[in-house]
Amino acid sequence: MYIFLCFLLLFHSLIPQSSSQDRYFKSSLDTSALQGSKQYLEVTPPLPSDHLTPLCTRSLLNHDFANTVGSPPISVPYSPPSDCPRLRKWNRVILELTVSSRGQQYDRIAGLWLDGAELLRTSTAEPNSNGVFWKVRKDITRYSYLLTKTSVNFTMMLENVVDNVFTGIYHVDVSLFYYKMDGVRVPSKGKLGFHKLGRLGKSGGRIRALYETPDRELGIKELEKMEILRKLGGNTRGLYETPADLIIPVNNNVTDKGYWFRIQSETDLRSKSIRIPRHTLRAVLELYVSFHGDDEYWYSNPPNAYIKTNNLTTPRGNGAFREVYLSVDGNFVGSEIMIPVIFTGGINPLSWDPVVAIGAFDLPTYDFDLSPFLGNIMDGKYHTFTIGVSDSIPYWLVDANLHLWLDRRPYALRARTVVREAADLKLQRSSKFKKLDGLFKVKAARRSRFAGWVISSVGNLSTTVLQEFKFKNFITFRYGGTHKMVKQKVKSMTEVWVEDTRGEVLSHVYMKRKYPLAVAVTNHSTWWNDGTFLLHTNVSHSLKQNITFGVFSNVIHNNQDSWGWMKVRGNAVLSRQAKTNQTFDYQDDFGCYTRNVASVTGRILNDYASSTCAPPE
Ligand SMILES: *[C@@H]1O[C@H](CO)[C@@H](O)[C@H](O)[C@H]1NC(C)=O
Ligand SMILES: *[C@@H]1O[C@H](CO)[C@@H](O)[C@H](O)[C@H]1NC(C)=O
Ligand SMILES: *[C@@H]1O[C@H](CO)[C@@H](O)[C@H](O)[C@H]1NC(C)=O
Ligand SMILES: *[C@@H]1O[C@H](CO)[C@@H](O)[C@H](O)[C@H]1NC(C)=O
Ligand SMILES: *[C@@H]1O[C@H](CO)[C@@H](O)[C@H](O)[C@H]1NC(C)=O
Ligand SMILES: *[C@@H]1O[C@H](CO)[C@@H](O)[C@H](O)[C@H]1NC(C)=O
Ligand SMILES: *[C@@H]1O[C@H](CO)[C@@H](O)[C@H](O)[C@H]1NC(C)=O
Ligand SMILES: *[C@@H]1O[C@H](CO)[C@@H](O)[C@H](O)[C@H]1NC(C)=O
Repeated sequence: MYIFLCFLLLFHSLIPQSSSQDRYFKSSLDTSALQGSKQYLEVTPPLPSDHLTPLCTRSLLNHDFANTVGSPPISVPYSPPSDCPRLRKWNRVILELTVSSRGQQYDRIAGLWLDGAELLRTSTAEPNSNGVFWKVRKDITRYSYLLTKTSVNFTMMLENVVDNVFTGIYHVDVSLFYYKMDGVRVPSKGKLGFHKLGRLGKSGGRIRALYETPDRELGIKELEKMEILRKLGGNTRGLYETPADLIIPVNNNVTDKGYWFRIQSETDLRSKSIRIPRHTLRAVLELYVSFHGDDEYWYSNPPNAYIKTNNLTTPRGNGAFREVYLSVDGNFVGSEIMIPVIFTGGINPLSWDPVVAIGAFDLPTYDFDLSPFLGNIMDGKYHTFTIGVSDSIPYWLVDANLHLWLDRRPYALRARTVVREAADLKLQRSSKFKKLDGLFKVKAARRSRFAGWVISSVGNLSTTVLQEFKFKNFITFRYGGTHKMVKQKVKSMTEVWVEDTRGEVLSHVYMKRKYPLAVAVTNHSTWWNDGTFLLHTNVSHSLKQNITFGVFSNVIHNNQDSWGWMKVRGNAVLSRQAKTNQTFDYQDDFGCYTRNVASVTGRILNDYASSTCAPPE
């Protein structure tokens, strides 16, 4: 039983000092020689292709990332597999990243790109002297356009340091698995799986359904809509699931530092000029982003006045609000508050051992439907796409992929933007402090609405995009700044609908995400005079997501609660205890997946998984 020690302690400041402060590695712990290499994991639902045998497999990269800081990324040539059975063409691709490491090392960030377009942003687990390994699997079917290209580069960047203190080398393997998946998914309550789609035949000039579905027949009208949807990049599985016809990266062309942009401040806007085909039906910008250095814990940064008044030297200021925003030719087109992903060395490394924090192995990406703006950017000229991060301090790694769906006839289309209502950011900050104790609040909200139409071979279709977020952050410092509490709530909503000229809604996507975070840290500096201190940490965070696409929907409730303490000297953890409890619930119209994992000080205590749907309440 652990004894709460706060009664006797001299309190020391919890104010972060610099970027290496607040980052820990597990040092010489976990050395019991009996333990073998340990598997790390991020809790995710199984992929629909998991039960299938791949048509073919391709090993892409096998590389040891040792002392790679400042080096250019690794590039290898890629072409689609030539040994895949020709007639049974693949239509689903899974990327599998396998990593192992042994020794002492911080968590590191990595990016994987194909032809300059990012496929995966991932961070590493912190190794130990017995070794660790893990696997990340991501469905990259969305990038089919790139995956069918020949003689392009597959690139991976992972900046690591290996010297006489940091010994962990990351051994990396990247493979691709190509599958053929038949059928479309049609809801059938309570049953998981796919219903084979017969042929979409024409009968009497109408599209006729040949579905084999036990519970539900789609009417002809719905089928017609689905045909249009398919052309627009939508289908039954989610948002823009039909792969785009073209992907143009919004990336850094100085590639010896990786394809991402390194953003250092609010004024450090990064742009790329892009020309898009004149027969584009639909455009979606997919944003990749991660935060590092002095902004790794941006959600816990106090305002500058607090730092200045207390004569602190920390660069971790600017308050706790960051907004990543996008513009085209200088006009705002969208923004988002990032999900606060905690890397494996973050806050308390024991909390993420061996189950990593939500999103740490497959960082969330953010989609912005830019279709309403096609009228402005489809003129055959170059347009400037810009990414910025408000209030940022070094450093943020960002880039984006522009996914474009094209009309089947290559004629220039007519399009126009008709609504552009980007409400100004509503931002309220309040700050109250006395010496090192204080209370800081930030509240922010933004709501935008954009609409535009495109006339193509599928008719005159109007797209309306509604985007909204609400943000709240509270930070308290108590007991001379030795107790810090962060509470953050973010609610983000996107709604996109496509209508024909009669006002008939052909497609409706609604996506809601909530990602609350609570962190409490107490720093007890005790009788040790050598810089040793004791930290108590509580972290709880969630990702609740609800995507509704026409009649289909999928819902994720992912929650982690972690409690722990650790004794630290320098950046090394000397002794510790931690307990993490994660519950993951996924539900769509085809089935459910639940997983409940509890870990205690680096060991899995219980791990329960089920794909049975709970009976309706
Ligand atoms: C905790 O306090 C000690 C002693 O003042 C300090 O060296 C250390 O950086 C503090 N730790 C954190 C996380 O603030
Ligand atoms: C691929 O990478 C190699 C080595 O880094 C580089 O020389 C070459 O120019 C790249 N090719 C393309 C098409 O980017
Ligand atoms: C890289 O991008 C910059 C800014 O858009 C541009 O001026 C430059 O010509 C580009 N360089 C290459 C090699 O494409
Ligand atoms: C900060 O420094 C100024 C000038 O050296 C001094 O007057 C002030 O008392 C200091 N404040 C604190 C909180 O130490
Ligand atoms: C396309 O449809 C929108 C509304 O649905 C309409 O306002 C617009 O005038 C139409 N465009 C043309 C060229 O008819
Ligand atoms: C963490 O949570 C536990 C249990 O709720 C509580 O007793 C403890 O004070 C919390 N620790 C911190 C640092 O807030
Ligand atoms: C998801 O959102 C839809 C649309 O607002 C709603 O009808 C549904 O009840 C939501 N599902 C959950 C589980 O929140
Ligand atoms: C984990 O959390 C879930 C939901 O919050 C709870 O039902 C369960 O009892 C917890 N398990 C442990 C071992 O704490």
